[in-house]
Amino acid sequence: MMASDLTAPRILVLASGTGTNLQSLIEATKSQGFPGEIVAVGSNRPKAPALGLASQAGIETFVVDHTQYKTRQDFDGMLRAEINRYAPDLIVMAGFMRILTTEFVRAFHGRMLNIHPSLLPKYPGLGTHRRALAAGDRLHGVTIHFVTEELDGGPIVAQADLTIDPDDTAETLARRVQEKEHLLYPIVVRWFCEGRLQLAGNEVRFDGAPLPTPFYLED
Ligand code: GAR
Repeated sequence: MMASDLTAPRILVLASGTGTNLQSLIEATKSQGFPGEIVAVGSNRPKAPALGLASQAGIETFVVDHTQYKTRQDFDGMLRAEINRYAPDLIVMAGFMRILTTEFVRAFHGRMLNIHPSLLPKYPGLGTHRRALAAGDRLHGVTIHFVTEELDGGPIVAQADLTIDPDDTAETLARRVQEKEHLLYPIVVRWFCEGRLQLAGNEVRFDGAPLPTPFYLED
């Protein structure tokens, strides 16, 4: 371990599914000179493939199975306790498919990022690719934002777009959007770990100044 690793910001990733974003973050953080370290991966699904990817990379994992909790508060309370064991500087939601309570979100204000497969504020929630197709949109894409109490509504940090082709389906769009996700998330996580990216109240700040518009990566 390099001396600098001892003080590297501690990243905790939450994932419910396949984990392709987790994998891109693992690869980025293992590359030399990355200013942060993934210290744990948590999931609400015991069989999430993301957990296997984490283990293969030698990263600690934990599960808080939402089906075992009566209320959202109980689940979030346990998740919070598990997360706090790792004292993370940053929580990265990478396909974490749970709606979180206000208390949870407030506890990690300014320290939690989410990736969402649409150009927010368009299409918060589920079925984003299908909805973009049904609306006849020309552009679609991905958004990375700080997590606040509003579902998929926190301050936006970065977006990447793509042009919808006439023969695109929800499946092809999902794949094409994910290619953008895998590029963009490691960049944003790096900025956070470098101390360049912050949330002050509800305002995104970059290099100490308010970010007038989100970073935008065109196709
Ligand atoms: C990603 O496409 C991410 O944008 C989406 O889940 C997928 C997870 O894929 N997240 C959401 O829909 C959150 N509302 P992955 O497990 O392969 O990273």
